[in-house]
Amino acid sequence: MPHYRRMTDASISEKILDTMFLITIGLGYLFALAHLYYSDQGRDGIPGLSVDDIKITYYGEHQKTRLGAALNGAMGVNLENPGQKQTIADWIGRGGSENEFNSTVAPILNQNCIVCHSSESGMGLPPLTSYNDVKKLTESDHGASIQSLVRVSHIHLFGIAFILFFVGRIFILCEMPVMLKRIAVAVPFFAILLDILSWYATRLIPEFAVVVVLSGALMGISLAIQIFVSLYQMWFYTPKIEPIEM
Ligand code: HEC
Repeated sequence: MPHYRRMTDASISEKILDTMFLITIGLGYLFALAHLYYSDQGRDGIPGLSVDDIKITYYGEHQKTRLGAALNGAMGVNLENPGQKQTIADWIGRGGSENEFNSTVAPILNQNCIVCHSSESGMGLPPLTSYNDVKKLTESDHGASIQSLVRVSHIHLFGIAFILFFVGRIFILCEMPVMLKRIAVAVPFFAILLDILSWYATRLIPEFAVVVVLSGALMGISLAIQIFVSLYQMWFYTPKIEPIEM
């Protein structure tokens, strides 16, 4: 019978390395959740993260504009006072003329937004430096652009594949029924693929926001289980010795 490596085969140094890695990844994941909370909460006007916020992120609010949506969401904090938001909203409401843009809106954007939203910033964000650029964002809000989804998808897939692979390699050293392990190592990969595909689906059909949330949760839970079971078996678990068959 072939011998597969188990936790008991790992040296103490290897276990320390694995433990530090798992703790760091776990913390990183918690910060990712906090980031998600801060960037998407309150988009629907109600504080706190909800499925509706996710819907607005990907599908948009077709009766609203991207500029207005951004200012009601995470971008609002960049303004100095609510009066400025009103000035911009009034300008959009009156049809967004170039004259009014130059006299009232451009000074606000120059002061508060273009540090990040200009081609010089190198952040790849929509520029807010000219009338035409800003005018485009006052058309109705169709959620995240394909370009921005593609950018986030490739970063996520590359980054998360590494995390899941290394956590999974450690988890494989645990003792458990073999079918359970085979399923458990595949689940988080399945979940992240489904999560990312459902971003695109939500862009077209807002009801898919539920799938975004559920698959994201499934990835988080399955990753957490792998981390906790690995840490437990690494340090606190003594496997039963199978009697040697003669
Ligand atoms: C510190 C950098 C920074 C500043 C300052 C900033 N933004 Fe942003 N903005 C971002 C980032 C990063 C994103 C993309 C992430 C997101 O959507 O939350 C973004 C996204 C946006 C979007 C959404 C673009 C889209 O694809 O729909 C709009 C509109 C926007 N900002 C407008 C503004 C306005 C208006 C201001 C000034 C009041 C402003 N931003 C100030 C960093 C900044």
